Amino acid sequence: MMDLNEELLSFISRSPTAFHAVENTARALADAGFAELQETESWSLVPGARAFVRRNGSSLIAFRVPQAAPIGFLLAAAHSDSPCFKLKENAVIASDGYVRLSVEKYGGMLCAPWLDRPLSIAGRVTLRERGKLVSRLLDLRRPVALIPNLAIHMDRSANEGKSYDMRADMPALFSLAGAKSPDALAAEALGVKEEELLSKDLFLYPCTPGTVWGAENEFISSPRLDDLQCVFGCLRGFLEAGDSACLTALCVFDNEEVGSSSKQGADSSFLTDVLRRVCFALGLDESDYLRCAANGFMVSADNAHAVHPNHPDQADRSERPVPNGGVVLKYNANARYTTDSVSAAVFSEICRAAEVPVQRYSNRADKAGGSTLGNISLTHLSLESVDIGLAQLAMHSCYETAGAKDTEYLVRAMREFFSRSIRKTAEGISL
Ligand code: CO
Repeated sequence: MMDLNEELLSFISRSPTAFHAVENTARALADAGFAELQETESWSLVPGARAFVRRNGSSLIAFRVPQAAPIGFLLAAAHSDSPCFKLKENAVIASDGYVRLSVEKYGGMLCAPWLDRPLSIAGRVTLRERGKLVSRLLDLRRPVALIPNLAIHMDRSANEGKSYDMRADMPALFSLAGAKSPDALAAEALGVKEEELLSKDLFLYPCTPGTVWGAENEFISSPRLDDLQCVFGCLRGFLEAGDSACLTALCVFDNEEVGSSSKQGADSSFLTDVLRRVCFALGLDESDYLRCAANGFMVSADNAHAVHPNHPDQADRSERPVPNGGVVLKYNANARYTTDSVSAAVFSEICRAAEVPVQRYSNRADKAGGSTLGNISLTHLSLESVDIGLAQLAMHSCYETAGAKDTEYLVRAMREFFSRSIRKTAEGISL
C-alpha cells in the first residue's frame, strides 16, 4: 500500500492544471466502477447507480444513488484550479537572441516563488482530427521555461519590498533564438502536425516535486495543495464511504480562483442541472428535488490558513489552526463562509465519530480574508452547509506547505460524512 501522502503527491503531480485534476478524478471514479454520463445525452438511472459528469473537462460531479428514493442531498465541493500563469495565444516574444513567453495572471498568486524555478507547460488544446474538432490534454512534463530574477547588483532595493509588473517582470524565458517554438513542442508531444493545433488553454506550472519533510516527517509541501489536497481527500472519502439514504455527490469545480463565474464554476448551473437531471432520471419531480435540497447538507472544502510561525500576530487571537491539528471549520460573520452553529454542530459530530480533531478559523477581525465556493453554490441551491479546510502555510504560493497527518483526517471525516443519512425534521436533525 502506497502511503496516503505519496498518493496525494502523485495525484497532484499528475494534475498540473484543472483539466488534468478532473481527468485524474474521472479515472479514479471509473476504476471504482462509476460510469461517465454526457450532458448532451438523455440519462436513465436505476437505484444504486454510480456515475459522474464533466463540464468543460475542468469541473466534475460524481454521485451515488441510494437503493430507495433519496431523502436528501449530501454534497462535498472542492476546486480543481490553482493560481498560475496562462500563456497568451500568441505567446512568443523574441528579443536580444532570447525567446520569451508572454503570460497573463490566472488568480491571485504570490509572484515571488515563481521566479528562478523550472517551469513546464500543460493544459488543453483543440485540434482538427478526422474532420472533427477534438480537445486533448497536454503536459510537456519537463522544464521548458523559467522566469529569471534580476541580479541584486541591478536592483539594490530588491530585498526592501518588491512589486511585480506582469508585463515587464513575468514573461518566462523559453529558449534562445532559432529553437523549436512552443507550438512545435506541443504538436510533437501530441503526435500531430503543428498546423492541426487550432487553439489552446495552456498554463505554466512549477516542476518542483512535492515532498514530505520535517524532523519527524510532519510536513508536506507541494504545488497546488490549495485545493487538490481537499479534492483528493474528498474523493477518497467519497469512494470509501458506505451506504447512505441520501444522494451523495462529489463536486469538483473549476475557476474558484477567479470568482467561479464561468459555465463550469460554482456560480454556474452545473450543480443544479445535474441534481435535477438525476432526480428526473429516477422518476422524481421538481418537488422531490426541492425536498432533497431542504434535507441537504454541503461540505465546502478549501484549505485554511495555519498560524504562520514568523507572523503569529497575523492570525486571530483565539482561533489559531496548526498543521496536523485536524479539520478546520471556517467561520465568517459576513457569510463569506457558510458555517453556522447548526452546520458546525453537524460536522463536528461527524468528525467526533470519525475520531478526527476539529480546529476553528476566522479572519483576524481587522482583515478581510478570502472567500470560497460554498457561499457561491448556495446562491443556486439553498441547503445547510459548512466550510472546512486543512491548515496550510503560504497559500497561493506555487509551493505550499501543510500537515502530513491532515490528509488522512480529511479522508476519515469525508468517509464518515458520506456514509451518513442526515434527516431534518421539525424535532431536530438526526445523523
Ligand atoms: Co482554495
